[in-house]
Amino acid sequence: MTAPGDMSGRRVLYSGAAGGLGHGTTLALLRAGAEVYSIDHDHSKNECLRADTPAELADRLHLIEQDLTDTPALRATLQEILRSGAVDVLINNAAIYPSKPFDDYTLDEQRQVQAVNVDAALVCTAELLPGMRNQGWGRIVNVTSITLTGGWENLSPYVQSKGALLGLTRAWAREFGKWGITVNAIAPGAFPTDAEKIHPDPEAYARFVLEHQAVKRRGTPDDFAAATLFLISESAGFITGHSMAVDGGWSMN
Ligand SMILES: NC(=O)c1ccc[n+]([C@@H]2O[C@H](COP(=O)([O-])OP(=O)(O)OC[C@H]3O[C@@H](n4cnc5c(N)ncnc54)[C@H](O)[C@@H]3O)[C@@H](O)[C@H]2O)c1
Repeated sequence: MTAPGDMSGRRVLYSGAAGGLGHGTTLALLRAGAEVYSIDHDHSKNECLRADTPAELADRLHLIEQDLTDTPALRATLQEILRSGAVDVLINNAAIYPSKPFDDYTLDEQRQVQAVNVDAALVCTAELLPGMRNQGWGRIVNVTSITLTGGWENLSPYVQSKGALLGLTRAWAREFGKWGITVNAIAPGAFPTDAEKIHPDPEAYARFVLEHQAVKRRGTPDDFAAATLFLISESAGFITGHSMAVDGGWSMN
């Protein structure tokens, strides 16, 4: 068994890896020895991640600038990655989070949120599953959200999408466990990333967050990375179908 945190030789597909939580987690994965394939359509965030990657780790980072909702292109990219072998770890992380009252959303706007947050995860999982199944080992992490616990207004398509991912986490965990594949969710609390910019008064929001958390400091990408590295490790092989809150004790189950 490899040491906990040792990801040497592991290939990771990470959607939306250039984002606020993905940036730090990708660097942590590289430091742990993993080869990381990121799919993210944001050019400036990709460049920022490239710039922050130490030169000695850069050859294991593959930044693929692509829209995850272009399904034929996504399938083609995944097939290309799979040409050189199975992908061991899939992190379904990319998300959009528009905010407005339920009756202001058109059906197309609601579908667009599901296209990024859920459909891309379906496609990635479907494409990578045969390789994981054949090798008898795999780790899938679906990134959900504290908003699923209730208490947030104006995010109904987003919360819908995270509910779908939680359901898929349990359904896939049940179905894939016999092949040595674990499937877990991580539910981040409130981290100060782009996702937080939807709030009109950042200082008041930060106070609100700290009041609700048991731990009286803001979360960091390293907090998220630590949970991710644990769930995808060899040591976490007996944990599946689980949802892990990483929220400083805001929600407690
Ligand atoms: N930051 C938080 O406080 C928080 C709280 C709860 C849940 N989350 C969840 O954590 C995950 C990461 O959040 P984050 O804070 O890093 O958000 P983020 O917006 O910084 O990162 C999301 C990434 O997804 C990419 N993306 C979006 N649509 C895409 C598309 N169509 N094609 C390709 N890439 C696309 C974006 O470019 C971005 O880099 C998300 O699933 C989010 O819902 C975050």
